[in-house]
Amino acid sequence: MNKNVYVVNHPLVAHNLSVLRDKNSDTEKFNHALKRISYALFFEGTKFLPTIDAPVSTPICDTNSPVINPDIEIIVSPILRAGLVFSDAAQELLPFCHIHHLGMYRNEETLEPIWYYNKMKGKLKDPIKTFVFILDPMLATGNSGYDAVHNFVKQGIPEENMVFISLISAPEGINRLTKAYSNLKIVTSKIDEKLNEKGYIVPGLGDAGDRIFNTVY
Ligand code: URA
Repeated sequence: MNKNVYVVNHPLVAHNLSVLRDKNSDTEKFNHALKRISYALFFEGTKFLPTIDAPVSTPICDTNSPVINPDIEIIVSPILRAGLVFSDAAQELLPFCHIHHLGMYRNEETLEPIWYYNKMKGKLKDPIKTFVFILDPMLATGNSGYDAVHNFVKQGIPEENMVFISLISAPEGINRLTKAYSNLKIVTSKIDEKLNEKGYIVPGLGDAGDRIFNTVY
């Protein structure tokens, strides 16, 4: 296993993942299970954030206690549309983060991403002090993940400041990202067997976006 791949092994995560895999779980059940897992993934992904000791006065005495380094900027970047499902947990746990949506959909024949949205209003204060969490529940071919990471690398953000958070990962997607970005961290709840001929993860859970948003077939 690559040292930068972190699999969250936890009975509650495993239990909720089984709910997600079940094709008979309805939208409400599916989204509740996904929300529960998203907190576990986020706690794991944010363990790399730098802290500094800050003075605090407790009711008993003055002391120092760690806080997230206030000099850093945090970007949370959901890949539309399925990545949106992780943004609530992200904003709740990191209320000072900037959300940067990346709009891509997959060309079903080439499996390559087609970009349709990527807007950044201002400039980064300091790329070296910027930390990025890229969110996509399904790391399948890794093609859109590759583009998403590249979007931030080209702005000068170090790979080691980036965490890719996925619910289920295929070995193909993990290989694609870790070969291209040897310092990127990947946090996932499960590495599945493989991709099928249509680029879906096996056993997976089907199309995550369709199941989250109850898309009409
Ligand atoms: N995207 C999905 O939603 N599911 C897969 O299995 C692969 C990519």
